Amino acid sequence: MKVPFYKHQLSGEAVRHIAPVLDSAILTSGQTGRDVEARICACFGVPHAFLTNSWTNGALASLLALDISPGDEVIVPAMTFIATANVVELLGAKPVFADVCPETLLMTPETVKAVLTPRTRAVIPVHLYGQMVDIAGLRAVAGDEIHIIEDAAHCFEGDLHGDKPGAHSDAAIFSFYATKNITCGEGGAVISRNAEFAEKLSATRLHGMSAGAVDRFRNEKYNHWDMVRMGVKANLPDLLAALLPEQIEAADAKLEQREEIASRYEAAFGNDERLRLQKPVEGARHARHLFPVWVDPRMRDDFILALNSAGIGCTVNYRSVPTLTYYRGRYGYGPDHFPVSENWGQGTVSLPLYPTLEKKAQIRVIDCVRRELDQLTRKAA
Ligand SMILES: Cc1ncc(COP(=O)(O)O)c(C=O)c1O
Repeated sequence: MKVPFYKHQLSGEAVRHIAPVLDSAILTSGQTGRDVEARICACFGVPHAFLTNSWTNGALASLLALDISPGDEVIVPAMTFIATANVVELLGAKPVFADVCPETLLMTPETVKAVLTPRTRAVIPVHLYGQMVDIAGLRAVAGDEIHIIEDAAHCFEGDLHGDKPGAHSDAAIFSFYATKNITCGEGGAVISRNAEFAEKLSATRLHGMSAGAVDRFRNEKYNHWDMVRMGVKANLPDLLAALLPEQIEAADAKLEQREEIASRYEAAFGNDERLRLQKPVEGARHARHLFPVWVDPRMRDDFILALNSAGIGCTVNYRSVPTLTYYRGRYGYGPDHFPVSENWGQGTVSLPLYPTLEKKAQIRVIDCVRRELDQLTRKAA
């Protein structure tokens, strides 16, 4: 029995959402997208939402709206996907890495405080795997002058003590990339409570233009646009936005299914001392985007190979970013700089987790993990 790592939850049926867009005049960002943005605002209780064509471009547009530029430092966790650091680097600013908590794998107010400098302009906390960083705590150590942009790529459904992404930050950014809990293939969204930031973002999201496609032709006449800031091309076309409302509607029900699978894995692996799991954060609703386990780094790659040979798909989320060739070369990081992230990154393996993963497939994953660990442990002894 093969168990793929990931199965998206869309099917040919979703074409019915796209058909009305094809029958309309606007294929790019128009009313369909605006309706989705209004729905996202309602979900998170925020006044501003902007659909983007990826998390990455949404983050670039956000950092441009905050005028992040060379000489500035932006704090990011060492344990994340490279995009979190790359957007800072792309703008010529310096990504300053903070290590993570060994149990939750999340950046903490303390790890951020340790790397704050007078040049720190922003922090990008990452709600890794779907569990939220303590944003209120982060605000307390960062103060009001330092911007907080939440990387909520893994955390559309999560909250902490009832606070959802966007509650205490300048902005939170979601990803609707192909493997995410909610997807339109490639996409994202930025939410914010800050009107000034939102006004700038509406320009930086589209080349710095003062008017998008719809507004340029408002009232059936051509309206001039101006370029008011530097921007990127980050808008999401309606063709893709049309795929989102049904999934947003179903997100809570799908989360229950994800939770059931994750709980089964936790019950199976929680007491196995050869494995480490991400510790639940007290008061958090976990969005259950990924289910990583950690094995002894000396056996990690053989473990992946053995699972793959048994037909179980798995991936690595992630190797510690400062250990990757580009960042190591550029900033000269060594193995002792971010020891918690490095160690987790050397041992972590993500197991299949998606709403349609059947119970017998889950049991197959659990059995294979145990069997392969038994064999590898015996071999190492
Ligand atoms: C934590 C994190 N941040 C950012 C991104 C980038 O998202 P996108 O592919 O939508 O640009 C990802 C994507 O996998 C991610 O996992």
